[in-house]
Amino acid sequence: DTVFVLNGPNLNLLGLREPEIYGSDTLDDIAEMLEDRARALGLAIDMRQSNHEGHLVDWLHDAQAAGAKAVLLNAGAYTHTSIALLDAIRAIRTPVIEVHLSDPATREAFRHLSYVAMAAADTVQGLGARSYVVALERAAAL
Ligand code: DQA
Repeated sequence: DTVFVLNGPNLNLLGLREPEIYGSDTLDDIAEMLEDRARALGLAIDMRQSNHEGHLVDWLHDAQAAGAKAVLLNAGAYTHTSIALLDAIRAIRTPVIEVHLSDPATREAFRHLSYVAMAAADTVQGLGARSYVVALERAAAL
């Protein structure tokens, strides 16, 4: 089974970007962690990143078309703005697990609303890079 791992805007700069909030691991480091854990769980990973909202919508559709077991979605700031992502999650039957490195609930008020959470099967946040690994474990258990 394959798990899609979709990453939104600015996550290509992970490791350099506000490391006091997001940590020093890069997205490639996280991909390596996930590959290791996936291998142990008997899963494959399809990991992607884009700064463009529509790409994330397309990739949610792709996940369903590919028969993915689940999607881990860190939509970055689109989490807090994107009705298109909410609709895309509702449009597919593939379960989506929301992921955040930080805990948006303890940050600025504008991060407290998550459109992704309105349709996601589960949310893992606030654990840094480990949020992705825990989310993968939850996906494996689905
Ligand atoms: C984030 C949290 C969002 O509020 C922020 O816009 C991001 C990263 C996280 O992983 O903590 O870009 O999704």
